[in-house]
Amino acid sequence: MVGQRALNVCLINVSQVVKHGLNTLKNKRSTKRLTMNIQKNVSLKAFNTLNLDVLASDYVQIHSPQDVVDALAYAHSEQLNVLILSGGSNLLLPKNIHALVMHMDIQGIELLSENESSRTLKVGAGQAWHDFVLWTTTQKLYGLQNLALIPGRVGAAPVQNIGAYGVEAGEFIESVEVYDRQQQQFKLINAQECHFSYRHSIFKDDPNRYVIVAVIFKLLKHPDLKINYGDLKAAMQDDFSAENLQKQVIHIRQSKLPDPKDFPNVGSFFKNPIIDQAKLLKLSVEFPNIPHYPQINERVKIAAGWLIDQTGWKGKRLNQVGMFEKQALVLVNYTDATLDDVQATYRAVQQDVYNKFNVLLEPEPVLFNELGLIEPHLR
Ligand code: EPU
Repeated sequence: MVGQRALNVCLINVSQVVKHGLNTLKNKRSTKRLTMNIQKNVSLKAFNTLNLDVLASDYVQIHSPQDVVDALAYAHSEQLNVLILSGGSNLLLPKNIHALVMHMDIQGIELLSENESSRTLKVGAGQAWHDFVLWTTTQKLYGLQNLALIPGRVGAAPVQNIGAYGVEAGEFIESVEVYDRQQQQFKLINAQECHFSYRHSIFKDDPNRYVIVAVIFKLLKHPDLKINYGDLKAAMQDDFSAENLQKQVIHIRQSKLPDPKDFPNVGSFFKNPIIDQAKLLKLSVEFPNIPHYPQINERVKIAAGWLIDQTGWKGKRLNQVGMFEKQALVLVNYTDATLDDVQATYRAVQQDVYNKFNVLLEPEPVLFNELGLIEPHLR
């Protein structure tokens, strides 16, 4: 970490914080001594999978729900915005960030309840997603196997409702435990209220309101395998166990998607566009092979990777940033790219796809500005 200075003890005036949720400090005019380790000028290079060189003015690791409350109080007293950092696998950051970066590291898996068919587990937001999926399989708990090897941490799963190979995390989430910054209290948001849809949830609509501290999953004791995506069924040959499903998903991902350690990336860079039937019909005249998947409300999802591939961007680079040679939907930082380099490449891709198909690709990762606030992507 570059020039970091640890502030092991930080003083904040709690009278500035009206209400602390579970920790009822209301009306107490006192100065509380926090044991939080707020660090100054911390490099986030190792904490974002695109490997962008980023310096954060203030950084803290969050190990418990109480740390969330204390960190928010610190940010409030220092008049800093708060940037919630999880696995860093779905964000785009500028060179310098003047904000408090809260790095979510709440661990732990707790069994909440169990019946004949399922087990309900509460999982800390900082738990590594892939390790959690592998663990569920060893426990003979089923549902998440299609989502193996997705980078990131558990707390980020509900935000964009991560999905792969015909399964979305939201299908197995019972509720999400959050700190509601508006109401200044911890609460549970049930799955229905999360409004999960393709790469979307209420946490995307209202990104500054909630800090996710845990996710409650309901997992099956008897497998109900989803194997109809692409060539998954064929890959399983004659072993239709959940263990083999997980193994094959890992194998397919490893064969197509770059490991961020070798080729820094944020997974799919664009969402698959959802269009109406009329537009699909028009496109199919000129491009009869366009891959498409029916959605609700008579709409269709088309494959962004295919569109990009057709424009010749697969394996092509603009300076240090390009689209991966085995999966055109993945943008890769080849060497020391900055956010400007990333934006130059993705806009060139967007432009070429738009010119050829009249479809505007929407980037998937979240873009932050220098004050730690979420920004809309430039078009
Ligand atoms: N395709 C191409 N060229 C390419 C890439 C894809 O022609 O370079 C075609 C494929 O042949 C296929 C279609 O596009 O017909 C779809 O490709 P694929 O099955 O690889 O999936 P995807 O739509 O590109 C989505 C998710 C992935 C997820 C896979 C599998 C999005 C934005 N991406 O990719 O998620 O792993 O399906 O379910 O929905 C991620 O979000 O980071 C991610 C990797």
